[in-house]
Amino acid sequence: MHASPRTLISPVGIVWLKLAVLYLIVGVGLGIAMGASENFTMRPVHAHINLLGWTTMALAGLVYSVFPEAGASRLAKIHFWLNNISLPVMAIALALVLSGARQVVPVLAASEILAAAGILVFAANIFLNLRK
Ligand code: HEM
Repeated sequence: MHASPRTLISPVGIVWLKLAVLYLIVGVGLGIAMGASENFTMRPVHAHINLLGWTTMALAGLVYSVFPEAGASRLAKIHFWLNNISLPVMAIALALVLSGARQVVPVLAASEILAAAGILVFAANIFLNLRK
């Protein structure tokens, strides 16, 4: 008897995947708006929402579902909140800086440091909690 593949996949990544697809809608919406307006100023905002919000979050969700020990860990929770607090702040701050609001640079820098910290927590989680 083989276990059905469904039983090997944990639901722990579902919230990651649902949020990731919301970031994808926002990122793609911005891409369509840039194309339609022929104004590409927000290109870096589009790229970061899609790559950190959609791609990185979705991959983390899949990794956490396949390795639920990592997905249910304290590090995963810290990773989740660092990612989802920093990214919306980063996207808005980056959009403001690209629009000329240089005074927002410190907020942008702080959000980027938080986002990078989230990635380091993800890496620590992978190394500490992925087991055969
Ligand atoms: C229907 C979906 C999408 C549309 C309409 C769209 C549209 C665009 C547009 C108009 C640009 C600027 C191109 C230029 O300046 O010549 C761009 C750049 C880019 N897009 Fe998208 N995009 C889509 C999906 C995605 C996705 C899913 C990702 C990543 C997962 C992505 C990542 C990027 C990157 C990395 C750049 C380059 C940014 C830069 O040069 O600063 N895009 N996209």
